[in-house]
Amino acid sequence: MAHFFTYTPRKRAASDLDFYTLMEQIPMKVLIATEKPFAKKAVDGIKEIIASAGYEVALLEKYTDKAQLLEAVADADALIIRSDKVTAEVIDAAKNLKIVVRAGAGYDNVDLAAATARKIVVMNTPGQNSNAVAELALCMMIYMSRNQLTPGTGTELKGKTLGIHAYGNVGKLVGRKGKALGMEVIAFDPFITDAKVFEADGVRKVDSIEELYAQSDFLSLHIPATEQTKKSIGEKLMKSMPKGATLVNTARKEVIDEAGIIAAMTEREDLKYITDIAPEAAAEMAEKFGKRFFATPKKMGAETAEANINAGLAAANQIVDFFKNGNTRFQVNK
Ligand code: 3PG
Repeated sequence: MAHFFTYTPRKRAASDLDFYTLMEQIPMKVLIATEKPFAKKAVDGIKEIIASAGYEVALLEKYTDKAQLLEAVADADALIIRSDKVTAEVIDAAKNLKIVVRAGAGYDNVDLAAATARKIVVMNTPGQNSNAVAELALCMMIYMSRNQLTPGTGTELKGKTLGIHAYGNVGKLVGRKGKALGMEVIAFDPFITDAKVFEADGVRKVDSIEELYAQSDFLSLHIPATEQTKKSIGEKLMKSMPKGATLVNTARKEVIDEAGIIAAMTEREDLKYITDIAPEAAAEMAEKFGKRFFATPKKMGAETAEANINAGLAAANQIVDFFKNGNTRFQVNK
């Protein structure tokens, strides 16, 4: 395992004594910087873990200006964030920073190159908020199939085909919940070629993205935002979906080619799109597509007390384990 950082555990030699004695005397400062705050119980839990380790905690919540974050990180040794943007500027302002933990799955909000250049370890907390996101995906399917809870005849999920695009922690849970509702679940993941992984969950593997979209009455997106995936879901894929199909995005807005989705939904008046976080073209989509479109005003997939507690406490524990034992298991910039 590659290590960036001098806290990597190693046998103490006599010459190390001064180094360790010194490290134990320097109080570590952990900053929780969350524009969208954790539930209070999660914050209390994080504080307890950090304080028990003998470190200091600072809290910056609901900040409205980047300058507040730049000021707060100035003397932080560790940083816990959610979707907060840790840019090169933030890293540059954080002169003591050694570790950033994104309490959640996606770390596209952290400038990994800038962090790596400073030998700052970046981690996520995979799986900790997955159930909340998966529940929201199912909620969104029902919401759209019942006319956004307005009068009129809807449809049921039972008997419909649910396509899972990327079979990671969230995708798997969405599949399991879809099956419990009587849906036929199919999946595609470019990184999982072994059909047995899907078969074990009673999920049918399809061999291409094209096949997945062409067969899915509900398509649940779980791909991360990367250079390869940005704007990758557009007109062609959406237009290939069956009559009355719904695209459900609890992943990232960046993976959507918005012009393409608008074109597909303009041509096909049966298609629907629901997304957890407003697209750039939210106003245009709302006006053009009415009840066939819905966007949450603020990302709410992981907005449950349980998810906040799971991810927040995991982040705190990972920081302590890193400083005390050099554990880099969840490091994403190795
Ligand atoms: C994630 O990547 O874990 C989710 O998108 C949750 O993001 P949030 O912590 O900003 O709600």
